Amino acid sequence: MAGQLISGVAIGKELREEIKQGVGKLAASGITPGLAVILVGDNSASQTYVKNKEKSSVEVGMKSEVIKLPETITEKELLDKVDELNNDESIHGILVQLPLPEHINEDLVIQMIDPEKDVDGFHPQNVGKMMIGQETYLPCTPHGILEMLQRTGVEIAGKHVVVIGRSNIVGKPMGQLLLQKDATVTYCHSRTKDLASFTKQADILIVAIGRAKFVTDEHVKEGAVVIDVGMNRDENGKLCGDVDFEKVKEVASAITPVPGGVGPMTITMLLKNTLQSAIKKAK
Ligand code: GUN
Repeated sequence: MAGQLISGVAIGKELREEIKQGVGKLAASGITPGLAVILVGDNSASQTYVKNKEKSSVEVGMKSEVIKLPETITEKELLDKVDELNNDESIHGILVQLPLPEHINEDLVIQMIDPEKDVDGFHPQNVGKMMIGQETYLPCTPHGILEMLQRTGVEIAGKHVVVIGRSNIVGKPMGQLLLQKDATVTYCHSRTKDLASFTKQADILIVAIGRAKFVTDEHVKEGAVVIDVGMNRDENGKLCGDVDFEKVKEVASAITPVPGGVGPMTITMLLKNTLQSAIKKAK
């Protein structure tokens, strides 16, 4: 392998150790950070994500409350539940696992979360603050990627970053955060023509399109840093990313694996945001 492996497992572990210490310090003032996760319905991927969030929060000493609600719950009942958590002093972070069933308006639910407890960073008020560089909860996946790049010593200022994907959760905020770190940012997406002509210019390539092994060595400049946000199954049912790892690792200077790359960082940043919320409350 030519490129360096950027391990989200190792960097996430280091960060969670720091978070655990932060939780310990807060305990002295009688506060335990509390994270509430609402899961609606029985989507199996969501169940796995929620289980991992619960396990990780308990491991760093936080209080975890998982609220499982049936698929048939009404929008009003869900909004009331969020409001109840908004008013619960023992809860510092609220996360509503997405996607929600079709009969529920996701935007309404996100907007009901108290922005001070919006540890996903999805509330429009927090998205706005992030856009103008004010302190707020940063969305966990892009924040985790930023942390990985910084902790690996990857230079960002003046570099050309190409982001493939324009979702509100990953692509859009990722570009914004890197712009604030003085990168030159290009967004590509499903309607981009001649994708490789853009991606070949990237010093840092971030891939979040949700298509198994879509990016190959033909898309990547020699020496680029490649971050793979994808989580797919290949033709044999094996977990894989949006990047063809075996091919791209030969041209990249550094690359994240799947699994063990971006995934562990997302949960870690959620814990970091929850701790940040609890610290704010303690002041
Ligand atoms: N579903 C997939 N990713 C996420 C996430 O980061 N937060 C929430 N709330 N739901 C998700």
